[in-house]
Amino acid sequence: MSRISDEPVVLATGGAGFIGSHIVVELLNNGFSVVVIDNLVNALKGNDGGPKPESLRRVEKITNKTVTFYNVDLLDIDALKSVFLKHNIVCVIHFAALKAVGESCEIPLTYYKNNVMGSINLLEVMKEFNVKKLLFSSSATVYGLPQKLPLTEDHPTGQGCTNPYGKTKYFIEEILQDLCASDKTWSVVALRYFNPIGAHKSGLIGEDPNGIPSNLMPYIAQVATGKRAELKVYGNDYDTLDGTGVRDYIHIVDLAEGHISGMKKVMDKAFSGWRVYNLGTGTGYSVLQIVHEFESASGKKVPYSIVERRPGDVASSYADPTRAKKELQWTAKRTLSDMCQDTWKWQSQNPNGFKG
Ligand code: WQD
Repeated sequence: MSRISDEPVVLATGGAGFIGSHIVVELLNNGFSVVVIDNLVNALKGNDGGPKPESLRRVEKITNKTVTFYNVDLLDIDALKSVFLKHNIVCVIHFAALKAVGESCEIPLTYYKNNVMGSINLLEVMKEFNVKKLLFSSSATVYGLPQKLPLTEDHPTGQGCTNPYGKTKYFIEEILQDLCASDKTWSVVALRYFNPIGAHKSGLIGEDPNGIPSNLMPYIAQVATGKRAELKVYGNDYDTLDGTGVRDYIHIVDLAEGHISGMKKVMDKAFSGWRVYNLGTGTGYSVLQIVHEFESASGKKVPYSIVERRPGDVASSYADPTRAKKELQWTAKRTLSDMCQDTWKWQSQNPNGFKG
């Protein structure tokens, strides 16, 4: 198989999903050429079932640029190698993962195989092709039960990581640190996301979960459109301002801009080794604060009832984003109102997500 082009490209694994597609928009807008591989487990094929998923067709519409796409699963090493043979990949952004916390407790082996083995396959192929620059999509879940808030990057990880999904992110971070320690020619930046919500301001792309949303914001949005009857608030007896869970919600486009800053770091010839950054706002909001803000933004009522706590939930989690500000010159800019308004625009314009 021969190389299609010598043009330097960024490979985005899982780039057709909610997080990946928003980052691909920013990459294209910042002049990068992008190749996406995705097994489409979390993204929808084109309306006509054509080769390119709908989310990427809309990314092309937003940016007026082209994305190269391959329907490849990281567990298929030969298919993965074929992409590296065809393209001059200079950096990889690794989004591909199963990410439903509750589901991971039901099918842990699937999560470990897909997330951890898939990552090891990717790293082995990168090594074979001498591609040693990686931006890794990690998660604040690796912090487990916060011992001190706000969470800094040197807070212990792994302890109290109560679900297989969060453990896969922790294990992959550990694998990456060991790899960097064994081979100083790797440059790896891990970005620990807090709670990404919102959508691109065009309303063309957004979060489109399969089935019943497990996360708060997509569930609220579906209640607002009438697709769901009411929100179940998982407990109001936490030690927080109103008893409901507090999280650090970050606008998906702020998160995407954080990836551009991370890319500059990982591509910097003066950088090598391992570095991890929190991508959060530093401000926590409770479930009920989110509900009220969304009602203001959408003009829709969001009926809810208080139910039992969800197993594995922590009371509060929010970031100390100082390191990213200092070292990446990045801070989140968008407000909670922006997050709710942009979510509502996406949801109200696409009540069935990408299903049309
Ligand atoms: C937020 C708050 C719930 C739904 C998880 C993963 C994290 C990332 C984001 C993948 C909590 C409450 C929720 C509902 C509710 N996922 N809630 N009713 O659990 O902070 O983080 O998703 O990368 O890694 O751990 O996000 O949106 O599920 O919950 O009351 O129907 O909303 O109890 O307090 P979470 P979430």
